[in-house]
Amino acid sequence: MDTTILRNRFRQQFGTSGDLYFSPGRINLIGEHTDYNGGFVFPGAVDKGVAIEIYRNGSRKVCLLALDQKEHPYVEFTLDDTSKPEEHWACYIFGVCKELEKHGVTLGGFNAAITGDVPAGAGMSSSAALESVFAFALNTMFADGRVDKFELAKIGQATEHNYCGVKCGIMDQFASVFGRQGCLIRLDCRSLEYEYFPFDPEGYKLVLINSMVKHSLGNEYNERRESCEKAVALMNREFGGVETLRDANYQMLDTVKAQLSKDDYLRAKYILDEKERVMAVCEALEEGDYETVGKKMYETHWGLSREYTVSCPELDFLVETAKQCGVTGSRVMGGGFGGCTINLVRDTVYDKFISKAKREYARKFGRVPDIYSVTIGDGSRKLQ
Ligand code: GLA
Repeated sequence: MDTTILRNRFRQQFGTSGDLYFSPGRINLIGEHTDYNGGFVFPGAVDKGVAIEIYRNGSRKVCLLALDQKEHPYVEFTLDDTSKPEEHWACYIFGVCKELEKHGVTLGGFNAAITGDVPAGAGMSSSAALESVFAFALNTMFADGRVDKFELAKIGQATEHNYCGVKCGIMDQFASVFGRQGCLIRLDCRSLEYEYFPFDPEGYKLVLINSMVKHSLGNEYNERRESCEKAVALMNREFGGVETLRDANYQMLDTVKAQLSKDDYLRAKYILDEKERVMAVCEALEEGDYETVGKKMYETHWGLSREYTVSCPELDFLVETAKQCGVTGSRVMGGGFGGCTINLVRDTVYDKFISKAKREYARKFGRVPDIYSVTIGDGSRKLQ
């Protein structure tokens, strides 16, 4: 990312220069809504993200300039404030400060300027990138990097829970902090064990298509999580040992089916299906069987659309279009309710697919979708 403008604006605003840090957004090949159910996810960091320039100011004040915010781009708070700032974007940074302090880090005031090239509301975790870049930078500046990377990811997640109203899982912050160039990461969200999988399928491309329907996760996301928790509570009462849906199976779910609403049942069933799909994809990847990977991606999409109900007509249309063009795999990516589809596309159908998707989507919905070809990049880091 070119940081020239960031540097210039920082100097203009604060009269000094500081250090530069970057954290990426993420993709996720498969394993959607499984993270807060103790399951597996398969994310990777991208080459787009959030960059900051930051400098200790020797006071208790935090002065923030968000280059990409049209309204209220400048916010100040102090480290002693107990209530969060009014501007939603600044709550992420306020939250990270508070959560780092809970980890025993003594912060001092700082000035920071923020910019990014990961599209907001596109399901690529721009908010996790923002949390991670501040967690990483402040840990480096005020604690000599003492807080380990998992804790940094958890600090971002706790910020979402406690200051932004989203009861998210760990996937986004984990991918942003732990990303590695050219690799997807299989993370077991229960044990937090993870493994890097080099991902460069010969003859295929990964491409994101942005429906341009902006999503912001909130109540609807939290409701999905509550559905899963209801199913867990019933199965745990019946069978014991069910802490998350990771511990459940179809027979257990059927036993409690009558006590669940139709929505809650279908959501829990989707999670059990998705658990199996992730394992099937792991095996297929090991064998280089991308056709099976793609098939599972489609299955995930229709599960997310019809059972977990986090899709929308625009996303369904993009996935249908992919299918018609012979795309290997396609599905909504991330929390849902808008944002991008992720597509595994053979080189031979790539051009045809992209031009058809743009044309047909514009015809039906009146706007041209943005296309991002995926480059898998590194996680949080200091820039030179
Ligand atoms: C959002 C959340 C993640 C995860 C995904 C769905 O991105 O932040 O924790 O639950 O949705 O897989």
